[in-house]
Amino acid sequence: MATPLTRAATAMPETTRPPAEPADAVAISGLTVRFDQSDGSTTEILGNLDLTIPRGQFLALVGRSGSGKTTILNSIAGLVPVASGTVEVLGIAPAQARSRFGFMPARDALLPWRTALRNVEYGLELRGMRRRERKGVARRYLDMVGLSDAAGRWPWQLSQGMRQRVALARAWALEPELLLLDEPFAALDAQTRETVREQFRSLLATAPGRTVLLVTHDLEEAVTLADRVVVLDGGRITGDLEAPAGAAHDTDGLLTNTESLGLLRKLRSLLRN
Ligand SMILES: Nc1ncnc2c1ncn2[C@@H]1O[C@H](COP(=O)(O)OP(=O)(O)OP(=O)(O)O)[C@@H](O)[C@H]1O
Ligand SMILES: [Mg+2]
Repeated sequence: MATPLTRAATAMPETTRPPAEPADAVAISGLTVRFDQSDGSTTEILGNLDLTIPRGQFLALVGRSGSGKTTILNSIAGLVPVASGTVEVLGIAPAQARSRFGFMPARDALLPWRTALRNVEYGLELRGMRRRERKGVARRYLDMVGLSDAAGRWPWQLSQGMRQRVALARAWALEPELLLLDEPFAALDAQTRETVREQFRSLLATAPGRTVLLVTHDLEEAVTLADRVVVLDGGRITGDLEAPAGAAHDTDGLLTNTESLGLLRKLRSLLRN
């Protein structure tokens, strides 16, 4: 029988025990964000907002233009000043978590002095990945978004949709624990959008623990990709709905399962009110 002494000897000392991983990828509590306007006044954009995203969840954030979606994303990325409340990413402050999330802003953020391939390489380079390996990874992700042939082109030689795909490849290539995507498929034509979304689905299937926060205006995209859809209106959450699994389209591209269609209708009505 083990004596208290032997038990104490075999237990891992407090100091060497790895810290428990937080269950939530994002934890926002009481977040208020205000912006100064050009006339000297201040507008509250987010008011006392609470939002928790468990690890491994795919959350789609929808809402009218100006409702504060990008502001939420930017707050999680640590890019806007917080008036009050807290934001934690993977249990730590956003600024400390930078290397652990991939962020694709809505506006084209490619570095103009780097080719498409070198843009995708950027984050990997910051991580210290060696040149040869880095180029291989970047090529693989450029291929996924259908841009193998454009690897050597400069951002100004790419169309808006191509630039968006390079930015997407750059965020994916980091294989981060958390992906923050602001309207990533918006500038793509319907055909390319479907192909890139399909690649995205397969990519996520290989990493089920990855958390995704996707901002989109496309409600069908939200319903078909996400596990959960949150509706934002005037900086406040007005809907938080679970998305049924197994959303599928028929050959005409229409949603076939009734639960998904029901969610789509609900979202449309929430956004109308
Ligand atoms: N830096 C800023 N300074 C002042 N006001 C800002 C700033 N950034 C955003 N806003 C304001 O905050 C509000 C929310 O903007 P935000 O970009 O978060 O909306 P959004 O939901 O992402 O809209 P969209 O769907 O058009 O992208 C808007 O009224 C916008 O004018
Ligand atoms: Mg936005």
